[in-house]
Amino acid sequence: MPMITILPSNKTVQSTEGVRLLDAILAAEVPFAHKCGGKADCGSCHVFVHDGRKTLSKIQRLENEKLDSIVGVGSKSRLACQAKVGSENITVELLSFA
Ligand code: FES
Repeated sequence: MPMITILPSNKTVQSTEGVRLLDAILAAEVPFAHKCGGKADCGSCHVFVHDGRKTLSKIQRLENEKLDSIVGVGSKSRLACQAKVGSENITVELLSFA
């Protein structure tokens, strides 16, 4: 079972392969913005994935288009509502809070 480490709180939560990263973070009861409810529309769930990026689901067109419109996006950027947890552990840094 993959473990998700959430920065900056350094909270960890066990997750399941195929679960949206957003849901894994919310399951850890960490306040986290997700204004559009997971439609890749608002960009508020933008995170940096520091470890385990390759285990996440691949970026699809909708996510890619939204990331292109967000200031401060880098190679570690994902939208938590679009990325699905893989089989390995990840470390993710939250950039906005609810
Ligand atoms: S919750 Fe709006 S883009 Fe992810």
